[in-house]
Amino acid sequence: MSYLDSHCHLNDEAFLEDYEEAIKRALDNGVRFLCVVGWDVESSKKAVEIAKKHSGVYAMVGIHPENLEGISENSIAELSELAKEKEVIAIGEIGLDYHWFKEPEEHENQKVWFKRQIALANELHLPISIHARDASQDTLNILKENVPQYGGVLHCYSASPEMLPYFAKLGLYFGFDGPITFKNSKAPKEAVRVCPDDRILSETDCPYMAPTPNRGKRNEPAYIPLIVEEMARIKEKSLEEMEQIIEENFKRLFHVKQ
Ligand code: NI
Repeated sequence: MSYLDSHCHLNDEAFLEDYEEAIKRALDNGVRFLCVVGWDVESSKKAVEIAKKHSGVYAMVGIHPENLEGISENSIAELSELAKEKEVIAIGEIGLDYHWFKEPEEHENQKVWFKRQIALANELHLPISIHARDASQDTLNILKENVPQYGGVLHCYSASPEMLPYFAKLGLYFGFDGPITFKNSKAPKEAVRVCPDDRILSETDCPYMAPTPNRGKRNEPAYIPLIVEEMARIKEKSLEEMEQIIEENFKRLFHVKQ
């Protein structure tokens, strides 16, 4: 069995004491690739540090829309420097979050730095990982006008299944997480069903959103099989087939060999 977690936060303080053990538990569960994702400059540095210590572990560097306080061109320069490391496979996570931020000025500021980081990814020839919460239409509009030239993934896809084809038309990939395993989560399950096979990715986004039956606990990459099993069930594929599809997608988007 071979699984992968394309988006996790082992750099989060929830793993301060035991991220090494979490990586080990993931390996024991057949997780071959992990990608640790930053949300500001410090966490991006930490993501790279973790990736450097373990084979099969990669990093993304970026500034999340919830963490824009104090951001400047200096921060972009720091990300650009970090992204030179060979373990860095994308710029992320970046995007729009209108769930926690309601003011029009905040939305405008998020758009500015989202576009700036798409431009950075294009400069560096890297794909992007997109966080979009309660902001699907603006995210789609920005991506149409600021095309990520090296592709990207809508991480933890939470827009409607109806909207998915519009993002797919832009060549984007879709990451699915614990919520697809929740009993009454109709929309996420439907989004998996309509997602093109060649665009689907598995992720935990840990420490958040642990899949059933671990819902409510700290999430970790070792739980990835629970998510992939549910994907296989929804897509009416064997587990092996599902894993293989995900691995091919991951390697194609992020130019990971091995
Ligand atoms: Ni995340």
